[in-house]
Amino acid sequence: MQIPQDLLHALTRARKLVVLDGAGLSAASGIPTFREAQTGLWARYEPTELATPQAFSKDPKTVWEWYAWRRRLIAGSQPNAGHRALAELARRLPGLQVITQNVDGLHRLAGLEAVLELHGNIRRSICSVTRREIDSQWLERHADVSPPPSPHHPDGLARPDVVWFGESLDEAVLTTALNAAEQCDFMLVAGTSGAVQPAASLPAIARQAGAQIADINLQPGEIARLAHWHLSGPAEHWLPRLVEALETGA
Ligand code: OAD
Repeated sequence: MQIPQDLLHALTRARKLVVLDGAGLSAASGIPTFREAQTGLWARYEPTELATPQAFSKDPKTVWEWYAWRRRLIAGSQPNAGHRALAELARRLPGLQVITQNVDGLHRLAGLEAVLELHGNIRRSICSVTRREIDSQWLERHADVSPPPSPHHPDGLARPDVVWFGESLDEAVLTTALNAAEQCDFMLVAGTSGAVQPAASLPAIARQAGAQIADINLQPGEIARLAHWHLSGPAEHWLPRLVEALETGA
């Protein structure tokens, strides 16, 4: 499938481009998505038993160890062609705002530092009481306890710096994302089911504000319904081709 000419024309003329991506972008890096049948994390585990503050206070060891397993999985993964294409796009379009729902930190490893991490970053740990960051040396020194205690508060425990179900997003991050969606004239959405708020509202906010929307996904889903274009197929296929086409104008 070729890139539709009108999509390319709109993308070339875009003055405020925003990218919103999800787990589908990291699938090619070997990181499971959440909702795909069989392989998705939430297909095999119950989110409410692992990714909520209640789950952590009830059984911090299980929750900490599940994230330690995900961290080990991510530690062995590399950015893929989709991440590299976004990093290249950011070099070419300094005003580009990339917003990710992913917590794997792969955009930064691909050289895209200015990524907005809506749901935090699994590579960072914080105090469960003060939410202050806990450095890796402390965690290594206390690796015999699961989860390690926090150095910042006597009742605190180490927890992953990710947004759990029922928790609100970092206010400054959310405000930046909402402003970007309201002010953009083109939003490229890649690899998300559009299942989780408030991230899932960003494309609708952009569309409402008059932006053109393109959706990259293996198959049409929630986002395709409100997109002007749907590119069916993997993000690691389409993103490099979009960047190449922007370079050559073909
Ligand atoms: P999902 O697992 O809900 O959706 C992944 C989407 O990526 C699906 O629509 C797949 O069809 C698509 N997909 C899979 N492989 C792809 C590929 N190679 N190229 C393009 N698309 C592909 O993951 P998210 O939408 O990211 O929340 O989920 C959103 C949030 O729900 C996550 O951030 C997480 C989860 O609970 C938190 O961590 C707070």
